[in-house]
Amino acid sequence: MKVHDYEKAFLITGGIVLALCAAALAYTTLGLGMHLPGHVGHIDPAKVYQTAPFNAPGVRKVAEGKYEVVMVAQAWAFMPAEIRVPRDAEVTIIATSTDVIHGLEIERTRVNMMLIPGQIGRITHTFREPGEHLLICHEYCGTGHHMMYGKVIVE
Ligand code: CUA
Repeated sequence: MKVHDYEKAFLITGGIVLALCAAALAYTTLGLGMHLPGHVGHIDPAKVYQTAPFNAPGVRKVAEGKYEVVMVAQAWAFMPAEIRVPRDAEVTIIATSTDVIHGLEIERTRVNMMLIPGQIGRITHTFREPGEHLLICHEYCGTGHHMMYGKVIVE
């Protein structure tokens, strides 16, 4: 079978790009430990405030250097809207939504997840430098979407 030179070049280029993408994926997942935020459970969105741990949103120290943040998103606020954690602490955010799909993104970090009513999301991050980070909802959730933000203060 005769394969045209241009076709051969196209196939080789395609193969190289595919191999590079697979290598980048393997490196970021296995080498850098980047993963999608996990969906760790289901919850009745109508009973979020009656269901543990969401009946007590806030920041809790769970061990030396380890903190847990329980967060509820609802149109158009995060609860709590302000999080204070010490630097170098491993912070696990456990969050859900009571109404529509919201987003949770902390600027200048890899914390970025979708908060879906009925699902519980979890993500862990270590804040290495003191300072303030804006925490925003990045899924359009209605007329007050642009006012839905909070902050993370690393002390
Ligand atoms: Cu909540 Cu946009």
